[in-house]
Amino acid sequence: MTLYLIGIGLCDEKDISVKGLEIVKNARAVYVEQYTNVLQVGVDRLETLYGRKVEIAAREDIEKRGGEIIASARDTDVAILIVGDVFSATTHSDLYLRARQAGVAVHVVHNASVMTAIGATGLSLYKFGKTASVPFYSSEHPVDTPYTILSENLLLGMHTLMLLDLDPKTRRFMTISEAIVELRRMEERKENHIIRDNTLVVGCARLGCPDSRIAFGTLSEIEKIDFGKPPSCLIIPGQMHFMEEDVLRTFNREL
Ligand SMILES: C[S@@+](CC[C@H](N)C(=O)[O-])C[C@H]1O[C@@H](n2cnc3c(N)ncnc32)[C@H](O)[C@@H]1O
Repeated sequence: MTLYLIGIGLCDEKDISVKGLEIVKNARAVYVEQYTNVLQVGVDRLETLYGRKVEIAAREDIEKRGGEIIASARDTDVAILIVGDVFSATTHSDLYLRARQAGVAVHVVHNASVMTAIGATGLSLYKFGKTASVPFYSSEHPVDTPYTILSENLLLGMHTLMLLDLDPKTRRFMTISEAIVELRRMEERKENHIIRDNTLVVGCARLGCPDSRIAFGTLSEIEKIDFGKPPSCLIIPGQMHFMEEDVLRTFNREL
């Protein structure tokens, strides 16, 4: 039997593919992971459309009980639903690897991801460098990795996507303003300064949803915007082709 890893897209219950839905309807057990991203609807809405009980799997369930879930897929079909696409969070690559190493059949059903939805900004996906994750501030463990990634990408003229920390269990989601505060904090610890108040950045919220929001402006302009409900991300463009900039400028009006 098979372990199905199914991307369910970025917004609501209707973003699952027809292929994904058919598998969900026939699987013995269906889990949805709720810790690497959030949908705009609750699990009840998934259950209504799918006509199935959907169990919420916390990080601990997937990371600790992952072995059990994989083992159960030996005798029966098990589906794990992932918000966005399957491999845009490291946990799911780990699950995939463990299942393959255990000799369990794994089938992946892809869907839209934040990693490609950012194309809506006009920035070319081909010109993005390494993605950075901005973690919640911790005075004990200050982190500079996002800043280092940004410096390296900028040197190569590449754009940088910054994913923002979240803890759906406690409903804590980093906002774009908070991420900019974190970047400024990292910058203070450095000798070379790469971000300024007038650095051009792009804020994106709820990409893939009807109420998605994209705003292009300077760091200090974007920092002041309330983008509303999560999830959101921040992009720092590198060298832009005039076409990329032309599309981005259409989002100026949203400031
Ligand atoms: C760890 S990533 C998980 C990505 C997900 N598996 C996918 O394929 O889109 C989660 C982070 O991506 C960003 N993100 C995810 N979906 C988004 C969306 N629809 N709009 C803007 N940012 C999003 C947020 O910063 C969020 O905290």
